[in-house]
Amino acid sequence: MKVITVKNQLEGAKIGLDIVSEKMAAGAKTFGLATGSTPVEFYNQIINSDLDFTDKTSINLDEYVGLDGSDEQSYRYFMSQHLFNEKPFKANFLPNGKAADLDKEVKAYDEIIDAHPIDLQILGIGQNGHIGFNEPGTSFDVTTHVVDLTQSTIKANSRYFANEADVPKQAVSMGIASILKSKTLILMAWGYEKAEAVKGMIEGEVTESLPASVLQQHDDVIVIIDEAAASLLN
Ligand code: GLP
Repeated sequence: MKVITVKNQLEGAKIGLDIVSEKMAAGAKTFGLATGSTPVEFYNQIINSDLDFTDKTSINLDEYVGLDGSDEQSYRYFMSQHLFNEKPFKANFLPNGKAADLDKEVKAYDEIIDAHPIDLQILGIGQNGHIGFNEPGTSFDVTTHVVDLTQSTIKANSRYFANEADVPKQAVSMGIASILKSKTLILMAWGYEKAEAVKGMIEGEVTESLPASVLQQHDDVIVIIDEAAASLLN
């Protein structure tokens, strides 16, 4: 893992943009994208750049079960607002949280990932060390699957909803095995509330109890963190 510590999100987002730009120059065609507050400034940097994504494909990590793409809390809506409306891609894939048959949906999503190998995957990290919606205890071997969200994730994500009770209890998420297939991964984290998860990810043992620790087994991971998120590192 290459760890880059920056002063703030803006500096981190600019480094992220430089990496995207290098990878595009080297022929990257498919980008794995994440939602959450973490990549918002990074997406702003992309929007304000002159990079052209009209022949690129994006594949997002996850989507809430039960929310339609037009729902303001859905990740499809988030991505449109924060990136896709301003930077058109050739294709934008996200799981369909409204699929009538979720088993079929997860298989179809795996086929999409297989057909479009991810050149660069962007990741955030949950306070409990989750990546995508792969909660602690998820097997490292799973590909796309339906996840029961933990109470701590529901609570953390409730800030985007009117009530905690409105937060969906399930999501469709790329699995750890799917995420690890990406050629290069960038994980970003900002703030003290991520410091413990970041420490476990970088310095702890590789364990399914802290899903992000699996990134130690991938040979091209760039971690971009601010000083607060880095504050517990040795
Ligand atoms: C969600 C998403 C993750 C994200 C995490 C952290 O649960 N499924 O992809 O990395 O939360 O969110 P934030 O960036 O808002 O801290």
